[in-house]
Amino acid sequence: MKIATTIDEVRNYVATWRKNGHTVGFVPTMGYLHEGHGSLVEYSVAQNDKTVVSIFVNPTQFAPNEDFSNYPRDFQADVSLCERLGADLIFAPQDSEMYANFAATFIDMKGTTDNLCGKSRLTHFRGVCTVVCKLFNIVAPDKAYFGRKDAQQLAVIRRMVADLNINVEVVGCPIVREADGLAKSSRNTYLIKAEREAATVISNAVFAAENLIKSGECCPNAVCSVMRKIIEAEPLARIDYIEIVNAETMQKIDAIKGNVLVAVAVFIGKTRLIDNCMVEKN
Ligand code: PAJ
Repeated sequence: MKIATTIDEVRNYVATWRKNGHTVGFVPTMGYLHEGHGSLVEYSVAQNDKTVVSIFVNPTQFAPNEDFSNYPRDFQADVSLCERLGADLIFAPQDSEMYANFAATFIDMKGTTDNLCGKSRLTHFRGVCTVVCKLFNIVAPDKAYFGRKDAQQLAVIRRMVADLNINVEVVGCPIVREADGLAKSSRNTYLIKAEREAATVISNAVFAAENLIKSGECCPNAVCSVMRKIIEAEPLARIDYIEIVNAETMQKIDAIKGNVLVAVAVFIGKTRLIDNCMVEKN
């Protein structure tokens, strides 16, 4: 497995692979990799001749009050995991390689970014779209792998790829969870023991919503209020949002019909965690 820190190096590796007729899969990450990220690498390795993993804590998707400087980092562990899973190249640029001082172009989106995390983190998706578009331009993969854990991010990337005619197939992959249901996240490491135990209310609420909808409940408010009760029973939890939206557009719905996304963001102490489930109802 190779490690590249410059854009030129990545382009050279990919150009050589292309010359040899190889297909290229791409997994963008911010590092501190866990089995959730690992599953994306496994999908890519299985479906492409070559796999590139980027590890870059992207400053433009963090607001000034957020955890950019504390975001967990363990480059050696990330390298070992990627190597073990069969990745071919890690791209780990410095901030200065990705963002020149004079960079003045950003990608803004309407609609898909209006609700959920886009409402709580106003500049977040601007940063995500900009960096992912740049990474797509650098790696030029055939397929790119994203987790459904960040369901709105996946919808936003699909929208961007369609709107800007980017030549990449976006593949959404299932949420990987801990044994007790908590969705795996690099941010789970922020939780102290009592918070880690409290955090299971998030997945409990999501599973309860999924069961309710599958057993016939069509009213978004009814489902949300059951979820609210479960989460509010935990004193360490503070709800940011609980919403049920159209799974593609991320717009609020009056009745649960078609493909819907049940999405939550909850603070456990100071740590903000997200979870969701996608349900198809005809
Ligand atoms: P990061 O949070 O590191 O996540 C990288 C990818 O791993 C995302 O597609 C995310 O959805 C996926 N992922 C994280 N936890 C997962 C889980 N438990 N199960 C399945 N997939 C999971 O998302 C980002 O980085 C950044 O916003 C990025 C796209 C790299 C742009 O900077």
